[in-house]
Amino acid sequence: MKRFYSHQLILSLAFFSAIFLAGCNIKGFFIKSSDDPVWVEPGKPAASAEGEASVDMNSPGAKVYKRICNACHGESGKGMAGIYPPLAGSALMQGDAAKPIKIVLHGFSGKIEREGQTYNGVMTGWGAALSDQDIADVLTFVRSSFGNTAGAVTASEVKGVRDATAGHSKPMAESEL
Ligand code: HEC
Repeated sequence: MKRFYSHQLILSLAFFSAIFLAGCNIKGFFIKSSDDPVWVEPGKPAASAEGEASVDMNSPGAKVYKRICNACHGESGKGMAGIYPPLAGSALMQGDAAKPIKIVLHGFSGKIEREGQTYNGVMTGWGAALSDQDIADVLTFVRSSFGNTAGAVTASEVKGVRDATAGHSKPMAESEL
């Protein structure tokens, strides 16, 4: 009798702790608590202090950026002072689209001054590795991200510049853009 009793007690303890644990799980995984600061909607980028939450980091252009440009120009387009110029706030990036198109196709080199910093590096061209559509996508992404507000770039604009500069094989200097 005593034996049966303790057996029953263990079984009911196990039963109730299983219910209790399941309850914790349900609360942790399925109930969205509005005051939980780490909750992130699946598939949605976390909001950042810089107001970049509206940028679609899964767009085709963002993917090209993350794969290539990010390594030098940085996750938030700020570059590295004196080494990689910022794309965030860049007048060149947001101006006549032909200039950033030439830079991505052929590369960029020579001394430039940006926001009080001097840069004298070499960016190699990506014209052989990226399609017209990839370049249009990445430029559209950068021109509308990191606080930038310029318009979209189309694959046919990229093709136009690619055809017009076909003979070019070296990174361009600022005077050639
Ligand atoms: C290996 C490093 C590297 C990568 C990768 C890279 N860049 Fe650059 N980029 C540079 C450097 C260095 C310069 C400045 C060159 C100079 O000093 O003349 C530059 C300059 C630029 C400029 C001119 C900015 C301005 O305000 O003058 C643009 C636009 C640009 N890059 C876009 C891109 C894009 C878009 C990508 C991705 C497709 C990319 N870069 C990938 C290194 C890189």
